[in-house]
Amino acid sequence: MRSLALLMSCAAVLVAGCSKEPESAPVAATPKPAIEKVVDRDEHSYAEPQKVAIADLALDIAVDFDTRTIGGTATYTLDWKDKAATQLVLDTRDLTIEKVEGEANNAWAPLQYALAAKDPVLGSKLTIETPARNAKVKVTYKSSPEASGLQWLTPEMTEGKQLPFMFSQSQQIHARSWVPLQDTPQVRYTYSAHVTSRPDVMVLMSADNDPAAARDGDYTFKMPQKIPSYLMAIAAGDLVFKPISARSGVWAEPAMVDKATKEFEDTEKMIATTEQLYGPYRWDRYDMLVLPPSFPYGGMENPRLSFITPTVIVGDKTLVSLIAHELAHSWSGNLVTFSSAKHGWLNEGFTSYVENRIVESLYGKEQASMEYAIARNSLKKEIGTMPEATQALAVKPGTKLDADDALSAVSYDKGAWFLQMLEERFGRQEFDAFLRGYFDHFAFQSITTEQFLDYAKKNLFDKHPNLVSDAEIQEWVYAPGIPARAPQVQSRGFSSTDTARIAWQGSGQLPNPQVTDTWITQQWVHFIEGMGDKLTVEQLKQLDDAYHFTGTANGEIAMRWYPLTIRSGYVDARPEIAKFIERVGRRKLIMPIYEELAKTPDGLAFARESFARARPGYHPITTGSVEATLAKAPAGP
Ligand code: BES
Ligand code: ZN
Repeated sequence: MRSLALLMSCAAVLVAGCSKEPESAPVAATPKPAIEKVVDRDEHSYAEPQKVAIADLALDIAVDFDTRTIGGTATYTLDWKDKAATQLVLDTRDLTIEKVEGEANNAWAPLQYALAAKDPVLGSKLTIETPARNAKVKVTYKSSPEASGLQWLTPEMTEGKQLPFMFSQSQQIHARSWVPLQDTPQVRYTYSAHVTSRPDVMVLMSADNDPAAARDGDYTFKMPQKIPSYLMAIAAGDLVFKPISARSGVWAEPAMVDKATKEFEDTEKMIATTEQLYGPYRWDRYDMLVLPPSFPYGGMENPRLSFITPTVIVGDKTLVSLIAHELAHSWSGNLVTFSSAKHGWLNEGFTSYVENRIVESLYGKEQASMEYAIARNSLKKEIGTMPEATQALAVKPGTKLDADDALSAVSYDKGAWFLQMLEERFGRQEFDAFLRGYFDHFAFQSITTEQFLDYAKKNLFDKHPNLVSDAEIQEWVYAPGIPARAPQVQSRGFSSTDTARIAWQGSGQLPNPQVTDTWITQQWVHFIEGMGDKLTVEQLKQLDDAYHFTGTANGEIAMRWYPLTIRSGYVDARPEIAKFIERVGRRKLIMPIYEELAKTPDGLAFARESFARARPGYHPITTGSVEATLAKAPAGP
């Protein structure tokens, strides 16, 4: 059995073939393209997909709200690649394994297995002895009520207050907490599921949800396209459906569904636009599931059924770029997938670029520019504080990453910036055709940064040799910081916001309401972001009297306004801050507030009190992040 430390050092010497000579192999100084193609070891999985890979998964499971468990059987159809292999290694976390069987001669017989002690990051390795290299293996298991990939909500924590709710969040490595799997994006498989639950809840999966399905506690699903494990998803609750178009619609609690459908009414246009740019949508339906506000992310691109935070439903569609983003993953991510989290930018950078193209096409260049400007301003702020190794788009082999934090603004915004730079240099027409070809070429595959670069060299760079130098590409992909020649975005909308802010800070005179009445979320965000480190309490009061930022229903404004009030000692905002962080569990919106509070002893005490009240309603991922922030607070005891 190889240790994790050895695996990490193997990753640094992949060129030489780590299983043979890990000690003496030379370490390449700079990784050159094509090096990693052969074996790209996923540091976040115990699986050995070069030996055997899951080709199909059949689940037969029960969702039990009383015990807060998912349990039943997972049957794998296996593709044995190594004729000498005699084990199937699966990832699990906090699962109880009840039985393992193998199929031979049309009968199931028990197989020996060992469940290793739990590693805090990776979970427990499940090693199944398969001397006969069975074509099918079946595991009977049960999840833990504390499964890191599931949240169980009591009826009181839902909109309707009548029925309980449950949802999964499998990315990055949480699928293993509710299904034993080869939990690495290097393995893709089809799946089917038979799911039972109490008859009054609707169950949905990242599969072929039927908008007309009867709510009866017995559901079947099929996902005929091969997906990686982080796209496994399940949700159950008081969920109803409302269509947007023939192939798209919204699932939500009854009290939310009309509002959500209105906010997301442009989804069909978004699908059509993306198809025009990058080829057909290959997943049949595209539906969205609106989750409770405790969902720890903004959105999750579960195939055929994106999971969406309710915090983007603000009534004026100004935050629907999130839908564009999750939809875009149907090409960049779900169709062409990173082969491990250290190539995260292949998913998130490409998707942020495609998202911006969709926004531009539906809402115009100005909206798209404002969104790029906001993202890049925060990237510029964040990147300076990051260790150099993590400022590169492609994380060098051997760099240790926390799976839940692997994707920073670098993957998203530097990634999108790199693609926008290429678009500008090669021209939109040429670049669009190139990307379309890329999605087609690698469809349903999981790839590395180097595979992308090889493909781009042949199909873009070498075709127009003088437009971008090799050194420039290398700098964008492997060097820290932002390259000096990065294209700049101009926004007229922000000039008016800047002018208004500067005038107010100089004279105390707020802008004419005729001006601010036309401002959209992004302009308010920019207005607040430009205020600097602190304002006086009087200034904050004046802004609050005029614009009612404190208590805002818009999380993008709240996540910027509240930290400013905390830094400035404006304690009047505290009751609303408490309400906000106790109601919302989306990490992006609440972590900046906790981080700011944790900087003073008094703020830290307030944060601890709110967290104690919020905790029962938080998702395990959010709880983990808040705990880590409060534990390392400089103001702490
Ligand atoms: N796939 C991500 C969410 C994710 C990333 C979950 C890494 C776990 C690990 C999703 O597509 C995403 O990027 N969501 C963003 C929204 C977005 C508009 C940038 C989010 O949640 O904020
Ligand atoms: Zn994403």
